[in-house]
Parts: sequence; structure tokens; C-alpha cells
Amino acid sequence: MGEAIAFTSGKGGVGKSSTLMNLGYMLSVKGYKVCLIDMDLGLKNLDIMMGLENRVLYDVNDVMNSYCSLKQALIKDKHNKNLFLLPACKNIHIDGIKKEDIKKIVNLLKDDFDYVLLDSAAGLEAGFKNSLYCADKVVVIATLDYTSLQDCDRVIGLAMREVNDITLVLNKVNPKFIDRGVSVNIQEAISYLSIPLLGVVYDDEEIVRYNNKGIPLLLNEKGMTYECFEVILKRMLGDEVGIPKFRQKSMIKRMFKQT
Ligand SMILES: Nc1ncnc2c1ncn2[C@@H]1O[C@H](COP(=O)(O)OP(=O)(O)OP(=O)(O)O)[C@@H](O)[C@H]1O
Ligand SMILES: [Mg+2]
Repeated sequence: MGEAIAFTSGKGGVGKSSTLMNLGYMLSVKGYKVCLIDMDLGLKNLDIMMGLENRVLYDVNDVMNSYCSLKQALIKDKHNKNLFLLPACKNIHIDGIKKEDIKKIVNLLKDDFDYVLLDSAAGLEAGFKNSLYCADKVVVIATLDYTSLQDCDRVIGLAMREVNDITLVLNKVNPKFIDRGVSVNIQEAISYLSIPLLGVVYDDEEIVRYNNKGIPLLLNEKGMTYECFEVILKRMLGDEVGIPKFRQKSMIKRMFKQT
């Protein structure tokens, strides 16, 4: 029996989909069978980030309405045979969806997959509530802005009513901003939210570049960001490894990337 993990946040755009996708990719490379679900049902974007948008034939709504089987709706990733996507539907009205129906699908997937990663909508609306209802664990994504942390705190309060295992990933961490006191620092964020830190992902424009290409960053890059995700994965699996320290990319590498 697999595990369903919801990736959620207080604010939008903090990196839920990027984090979930890269982590899903890394889990699948390590041999786990992984299914990603876009729970932001009206605003799908995982298929685009994974470069799978042309392969979408059926979606989660078709499965719920028995227009196709769950197996028919699943799309295999182009880069790893263990990674699958259950796409969301663009034209669906989220309020018309019963959380019990989605949970049924998630439970069926848990029979077949080691990990079912739910890309929850930001904020407190239906997408978030449905994800919580289906999840065994919650990973909250936040950036080091006070507003992001405040909204996150509210999300954590609600998540605690449904799920016991809630951990934090701090994303887009910019050490220069921390040093200059522009952003909150990691310790302050942890003590403000008071949940265990799962990991940190540093601000890396390569994530944006690869998201736009529809290719997982971790397929080609084995640098700092790879290490951050590797540590998140190890900590997720119970290994008590430390958070990697920020390393500046070499000048040559940066110049090469800009050409
Ligand atoms: N560690 C990072 N460093 C730099 N940019 C990042 C990082 N993580 C994500 N991004 C970029 O931030 C933007 C938002 O990321 P993403 O779409 O994953 O966020 P989201 O929380 O899923 O957003 P939404 O709430 O709209 O679904 C994207 O352009 C993405 O490439
Ligand atoms: Mg998203």
C-alpha cells in the first residue's frame, strides 16, 4: 500500500508543482513507482511542466464519470518508466467534485504505486481541502517572506485537523537576501511555523528554465539543486542527513549557461 502526500502552500507561486515534480522524478529514479496528480483541477499545469500536454487523452474528471478507466487516464513520463501523471481537467468546476470520489481514485492508485503525490491548490479553497482529505502526509511549501509564512501558518492549522505528519520545505531560499536581512532566515521560519523542516531548495533559475522546457531539471543537473532534492528525499525516507549549505555556481558554469 502506497502513501499519498499532499504538497500545499498558503500563497500561490511558491513552488509546489516544481518541488513535487522534481521529487517525484527523483523517487522514480530511485526505483519507486510514483503517480503525480494535479489537484488544482481547474488550473492544470503539471502536464505542461512535464512536457506531457500533447499526450493527455483523458483526465481525472473522465475517470470520475467512468468515461475511461483509471489506467487509460494515466500518462507515462517520457524520461522514467516508474513515473506517471493523472492529469487534471481544464474545464471542470471544482465545487462540483465530491472529495469522496477523488479519495476513491487516490486509494486505488495507492494499491499500485509507492507514492501518490498530490499537487494541491494554494490557499484554503476546494483543491486544498480535497488534497487534505486524500493525504496521509502533508508537505507545506513556503518561501522566506513574512506573508508567505503567515498564510502557511493558517494552512498548517487547518491541515493539522486532518493529518498528523506535516513537514516544511523552504523554497527559493536566497542566502544573499538572508545575509542582508531582506528575507526572514531559515531558523526564524522554522520557529514561526513550528513544524519539522524536511528540506530547503535554493533559488535557482535553472528550475525556471527546465520547467519551461518541460524537462525535469534533475535529469541533467547534478549540482546544488540536485543535492537539495536528494536530501529532501533521504529525510522523507527517515535518514537524518543535514541540510546542504549553499554553494555558489562556478563563474565558468554561469557564463556557459548564459550563452
Ligand atoms: N527553487 C526555485 N528557484 C527559482 N525559481 C523557482 C524555484 N522553484 C520554483 N520556481 C519557479 O517559481 C515559479 C512558480 O513555481 P510553481 O509553478 O512550481 O509554483 P506553484 O506553487 O505550484 O504555483 P501555483 O500556486 O500557481 O500552482 C515557476 O516559474 C518556477 O519555475
Ligand atoms: Mg502549481
